[in-house]
Amino acid sequence: MTSTAARIPLYGPTIDGDAAALYERMRAEHGPVVPVSLAPGLDAWLVVGHRELLHLTRDEQYFSHDPRRWTPLREGRVPRDSPVLPMVGWRPALLYSDGQQHRRMRGAVADALARVNGHELIRSVRATAERLIAEFATGGATEAELVGQYARALPLHVVTGLLGIGAEAGPPLVEAITTTVAATAESPAASRRMSAMLSELIEEKRRAPGEDLVSWLLGHDAGLSDEELLHNIVVTIVAGNRTTGNWIATTLLILLTDPAFRSSLSRGHLTVDDALDLVLWRFPPTQNFPARYATRDLSFGGQDVRAGDMLVLGLAGANADPEVLPADGRPVVGNRSHLAFGAGPHTCPAQDPARLIARTAVDTLRHRLPDLELAVPESALTWAASPWTKELAALPVRFSRPALAATALGDPR
Ligand code: HEM
Repeated sequence: MTSTAARIPLYGPTIDGDAAALYERMRAEHGPVVPVSLAPGLDAWLVVGHRELLHLTRDEQYFSHDPRRWTPLREGRVPRDSPVLPMVGWRPALLYSDGQQHRRMRGAVADALARVNGHELIRSVRATAERLIAEFATGGATEAELVGQYARALPLHVVTGLLGIGAEAGPPLVEAITTTVAATAESPAASRRMSAMLSELIEEKRRAPGEDLVSWLLGHDAGLSDEELLHNIVVTIVAGNRTTGNWIATTLLILLTDPAFRSSLSRGHLTVDDALDLVLWRFPPTQNFPARYATRDLSFGGQDVRAGDMLVLGLAGANADPEVLPADGRPVVGNRSHLAFGAGPHTCPAQDPARLIARTAVDTLRHRLPDLELAVPESALTWAASPWTKELAALPVRFSRPALAATALGDPR
């Protein structure tokens, strides 16, 4: 792929501003497939047309999931410490494979996820939520920072719990995985720690299987090798943690600031699920998802794409495509044709449990701290942007004393 002067950087000041305005500009200047750069010298196409994104995710013949096809990677032009590498480095896991190989691993992961008991999951999320609320609302405290103390902390505990990882082993394992994929000087050591911890976990589950994802993956007739098992566990933890945390955090923000929800929730017009949907449309937890790699030269969305080019899934941009989003920017309530979970054979296999986790987390907090409000003006909130995400950096709130424990309220809905 050749660089062009008009290429839009997905780093630096361009992505710090108004995301909706940026996608509008991209569409106006380039159409549905936009020439972008992920880092200096590392180019890609960002697909922001809803129809084109469906095509990209559904057509495995033209668009592969295997990053080893990416020209800069093949030519050794991606620095080892590039911030782009963690998201596009190859692993023997479902997210990086195509066709039969993908179906085999995907089948095992999807079957294991389908065995998750919804009621047990709600119970576990609610217990974790209660514990986190008790931690920050103790001793008469009336202020908290909900991104770090709640929204991100909760999926970390719940997702590792689903995998059958004990409460003590969870945080160090997630720390090792996060540092491994961060592509910094500490990554090699973290990667060794991660492999050792996961190998031990796999051995433990082999000796004494439990009712958890790792045990179900081990027993699945897809016959995953230990290496495949390890990397599919890594993908599941990485895919499930930050995404769900962002989803919860932005939904809490919407409930605290959007007048339609503030007045309507109490009267029952709009539900927490509607707020969760609005976030998936307008602020998808991953704005841009890497990636597909062209298997041959082709013309796509008006652009000349070369074999080996990277195409990034512009999930937020495609959701804002005027072909699917009304002019006022508010999706019709109940419409779930957004692409926040991707589409096609790799679409997120954990949509149901992820929604259960997010809904229960939001509902439990709402019931326990009914007078929750922002502790700073909305304009003072900060966001952290990368080529892939735009995340709420902090959500400072205040509240009076917690209400009765949510366990007295019945199942959150
Ligand atoms: C419990 C939480 C979650 C788990 C365990 C999970 C797990 C996974 C896994 C294993 C994949 C790879 C699927 C494949 O390649 O076949 C995946 C893909 C994906 N997930 Fe999730 N996920 C979770 C939550 C979320 C959330 C909250 C979002 C955002 C709303 C999300 C968005 C995606 C996207 C966009 C893809 C990629 C689709 C593609 O490449 O076409 N996930 N997820």
